[in-house]
Amino acid sequence: MGLSPDEIRARIAAVDGWWHSIELAPGIVTPGGKSADVLRDELAALRLDDLALAGKSVIDIGAWDGFYSFEAERRGAARVLALDHFVWCLDFAEAGRQREARTAAGLAPPDYDDIPSAWRPDLLPGKRGFDTAREILGSRVESRVGDLMEIDPAELGTFDVALYLGVLYHVKNPLEALRRLARITREVAVIETQAVVLDGFESFALCEFYETDECNGDPTNWWAPNEKALVGMCRAAGFREAKLVVAKPKEKLPRQRKIQHRLTGEPLRQARPPVPYRAIVHARK
Ligand SMILES: C[S@@+](CC[C@H](N)C(=O)[O-])C[C@H]1O[C@@H](n2cnc3c(N)ncnc32)[C@H](O)[C@@H]1O
Repeated sequence: MGLSPDEIRARIAAVDGWWHSIELAPGIVTPGGKSADVLRDELAALRLDDLALAGKSVIDIGAWDGFYSFEAERRGAARVLALDHFVWCLDFAEAGRQREARTAAGLAPPDYDDIPSAWRPDLLPGKRGFDTAREILGSRVESRVGDLMEIDPAELGTFDVALYLGVLYHVKNPLEALRRLARITREVAVIETQAVVLDGFESFALCEFYETDECNGDPTNWWAPNEKALVGMCRAAGFREAKLVVAKPKEKLPRQRKIQHRLTGEPLRQARPPVPYRAIVHARK
């Protein structure tokens, strides 16, 4: 669009908060909460090379500033749709103020949906980053404001590849989310999610539940499945197979202590705390 580097920098600075670090011109990168290094590592971990995106239709659910949508386009996808609603509608500054007020009053952090003054679907304050990046990149990525949990999947249509990155643990009903994901996926869904190792319980399909903001201080995080639950939920939702491409944390699990029953002397296992990590699944139809 013929903007000078200074004009591009000014357009970037005019956006109130970036989540993704996106190179919009040589050497000019948006100041995302997720650094360029983190995104490079995340991207490599997704193993998109295995999916050959060229010529395919792709939906990026929970696209935010669109780093992965633009990456799919860069890899030659024929059509890319960026879908989001939550952060696009949210006025983060107002949500932060309301949250601080609740915390100061000794109350649990609010569910952001319950802060009417921070919910601005009329202005879409959180979509300015996506729109700015799209325009400067000269991108053809389409966007749609919508909640996967409410849109009629038949109306959304189907896509060869669905990216579902960093979203599953934000939904209150993850099995229904995966069922909807399966409905709109033709070939493969890439699911990146908060997960847990529950040492000693690997043969059970279990999820850890977060009542408020125990997971990363974010009250919108609800669930973290273990590996068996994640794979099982994908299959129950309508995917033929679910393959973990990143499994289990690299760091060592905390050491388990041997303890004895105080009265009988019987050896007991003291449960290790859940170990959080980020799992990535390629779920195929
Ligand atoms: C942690 S961010 C991940 C952003 C991006 N996918 C990434 O991996 O960097 C979660 C995103 O999912 C979006 N989101 C959460 N629930 C959603 C839903 N039901 N439908 C569409 N988007 C949703 C949020 O608005 C937010 O943009």
